[in-house]
Amino acid sequence: MAPLPIVRTVADLRAQVGAWRRAGETVALVPTMGALHAGHMALVEQGRRMADHVVASVFVNPTQFAPHEDFDRYPRDESGDAAKLAQHGCGLLYAPSVAEMYPEGFATAISVGGPAEGLCGAFRPQMFGGVALVVTKLFLQALPDVALFGDKDYQQLQVIRRFTRDLDIPVRVEGVPTVREADGLALSSRNAYLSADERARAPELHRALSGAAAELAAGMAAGAVLEQVKARIAAAGFRSIDYVELRDADTLAPVERVERPARLLAAAWMGKARLIDNVPVVRG
Ligand code: PAF
Repeated sequence: MAPLPIVRTVADLRAQVGAWRRAGETVALVPTMGALHAGHMALVEQGRRMADHVVASVFVNPTQFAPHEDFDRYPRDESGDAAKLAQHGCGLLYAPSVAEMYPEGFATAISVGGPAEGLCGAFRPQMFGGVALVVTKLFLQALPDVALFGDKDYQQLQVIRRFTRDLDIPVRVEGVPTVREADGLALSSRNAYLSADERARAPELHRALSGAAAELAAGMAAGAVLEQVKARIAAAGFRSIDYVELRDADTLAPVERVERPARLLAAAWMGKARLIDNVPVVRG
């Protein structure tokens, strides 16, 4: 199989995308931070169904990490990532340096509200501003027709949808269902931080959310149901629970009883891994 072409500068990215555009062809963008797994490949495959070419970006974005977070130890494997992308029909890897994305003198930030408030936004206050900044730059650098993001990072997806609309960025934002291991654990690059014992316990997060979603869909009030989820995952060995919350599926406003499509979202620590997951809740 031919190696995947890699570009590292905005100019080279635009030259390739521009050539496709002049030929009347469409482009899908899959933004990632690398350490790619089957969840990312589902984004690439959906991109291939929606556009003539798929560009994947791999950039561990420093502006979305707080100083005490895992920027330095975030897993990096560019050659492995490139091989997987080539196998799944990606046409181009964009892997810029930090200096290319944030050159000397860079002084711009984006402030996000609405769906960025609460949930992960309360525990990682730096994150969604950094995501908005880098995703806006990637959109303007690549000018894709469509960009694909996983439902696993559901709050991130809603934040990206919101600022893309608010800033009139002409890119269609598409969510792709979470890919799970056979035991229900959502695929995540951070699962690499789990020991064997923690890995065996981690699927309880999804089991607890799925059980609670059925009760909420039947019309039960959120309060007691959410407390049961917290007790169940604490008993499974999650050492610290950031949140378990029921929110409106579009706005992410808090919900007490499900009337319209909602989302049950959670974040909790298993060992050194902060795991997040979410499930849809639709009134039965
Ligand atoms: O979800 C991710 O991998 C990142 O937050 C993203 C969207 C690529 C921005 O750095």
